[in-house]
Amino acid sequence: MRKNIVAGNWKMNTTVAEGVALAKEVNEALKGSKTNCDVVICVPFTHLCPVADVIDSNVLGLGAENCADHEKGAYTGEVSASMIASTGAGYVILGHSERRQYYGETSETLREKVALALANGLTPIFCIGEVLEERENDTFNDVVARQVEEGLFNLSAEDFGKIVLAYEPVWAIGTGKTATAEQAEDMHAHIRSVIAGKYGQEVADNTSILYGGSCKPSNAAELFAKPDVDGGLIGGAALKCADFMGIVNAF
Ligand code: PGA
Repeated sequence: MRKNIVAGNWKMNTTVAEGVALAKEVNEALKGSKTNCDVVICVPFTHLCPVADVIDSNVLGLGAENCADHEKGAYTGEVSASMIASTGAGYVILGHSERRQYYGETSETLREKVALALANGLTPIFCIGEVLEERENDTFNDVVARQVEEGLFNLSAEDFGKIVLAYEPVWAIGTGKTATAEQAEDMHAHIRSVIAGKYGQEVADNTSILYGGSCKPSNAAELFAKPDVDGGLIGGAALKCADFMGIVNAF
């Protein structure tokens, strides 16, 4: 069956020293408690190696926040999936709405990134979600289905089974405005039915679908109690150990 996962997305926050200290704190907190989910932190590229050195990979997974859409070569400033894997990281966030919005990522580039992540043994945490206008004009179900289809439905069923999805309504990211647990559940069930239509019910049932967007200790339990919500992708609240652990312990 599918896994419950709480993943932190640190975005462009913390110096290396601050990030290492935070990772250590989370690692220690996890060692001292029994959790009912897998826990992952996705950190800036500069932090991957030093963080990998201080965490126990049996209790805390490590990921990057993006990877290049090429294998290697003359792409100044880019970081490849194989470089990420060589740090010991096991995950990579792909298609975050901030990357789609500010850096022009399209389904086409994302298909390349997903393929390279999988080829290098990384688990993609593939983000999808509608903007406020699409929520208000009632096109959100179609928009999100299209993001899943265009970004991922070129994969074999076996490869699709390696993907973690994160539904993040853009209007809820960093705004303090969380989707209600009902809105999240409706969308997650919709996404699962879209997956079932392509790959069958078993693959759909085995896919972890995380919710992201102003998830915090005070609302995590209600969200995670929904049958199709399999955890969270956590931005702001992942930057404080107590808040992040509050969400982890909501399971
Ligand atoms: P937030 O970010 O929790 O700060 O809203 C979530 C995300 O963008 O992954």
